[in-house]
Amino acid sequence: MVNIAIEAALEAGKFLKHSLGKIKTVERKSGQERNLVTNIDKQAEEMIVEKIKQHFPTHNILAEEGTTGNENSEFKWIIDPLDGTTNFTHGLPLFCVSIGVEKNDELICGVVYDPNRDELFSAEKGNGAKLNGKKISVSTNDKLISSLLVTGFPYNITENPMNCVEHFQNFLFEAQAVRRLGSAALDLCYVACGRFDGFWEVALNPWDMAAGVLLVEEAGGIVSDFNGNEHSIYKKDIVASNGKVHKEMLNVLKKGMK
Ligand code: IPD
Ligand code: CA
Ligand code: CA
Repeated sequence: MVNIAIEAALEAGKFLKHSLGKIKTVERKSGQERNLVTNIDKQAEEMIVEKIKQHFPTHNILAEEGTTGNENSEFKWIIDPLDGTTNFTHGLPLFCVSIGVEKNDELICGVVYDPNRDELFSAEKGNGAKLNGKKISVSTNDKLISSLLVTGFPYNITENPMNCVEHFQNFLFEAQAVRRLGSAALDLCYVACGRFDGFWEVALNPWDMAAGVLLVEEAGGIVSDFNGNEHSIYKKDIVASNGKVHKEMLNVLKKGMK
């Protein structure tokens, strides 16, 4: 399965790269001004799904642009064909393809491909995490004040769900620096390979997180919800870190939850 996920991610990723600046249609999802979808998101999803269905016609599928599969299968492919659509729409080369696979509700495989840097992140449960075939691990930094963190904001930012603006300010005051790249899947992969020490976001979807969560865990990091409880890709909030700064991150989040 991981080989098919890699093939699909490489193919779709190259398509995204070549389509940059050549978007034909941009729509707004469910009436939200900031939540965009282009014809390229949809075409990339079709390419990925076609490959999966060729090899695993009986498997289930949960894909951002609406493709579904066989709900009775123990395997579920969780796909974000273009993570970073806002960047992509503006011609900013910071986006990726994300494909995760669950077996009986447990993540067993994750692949994220960034076509702009030609970086392929992959993980299999129990087998570690890799970047372009080489083993990766999380950073060893153990203090928040020397940590480089990353976050993202939901499309309904004006409603400030779960105090996302407060959390952002609190982390700015307690970490070394905070970034916002615009692709949650890459944020997680960058925690996995030690470029970031930690990541949090208030409201994500399963396809943003599935592959990246396994990458972080297999690289030796920790993933939880804002309260420090077990994480689920079917819930909204996420904190992922190298493990060493996790408690400090949860303490900062606590301040913003009052
Ligand atoms: C978005 C990106 C972004 C995050 C948003 C996501 P999309 O995914 O991952 O970084 O902040 O919450 O929805 O819409 O570009 O696939
Ligand atoms: Ca996404
Ligand atoms: Ca997407």
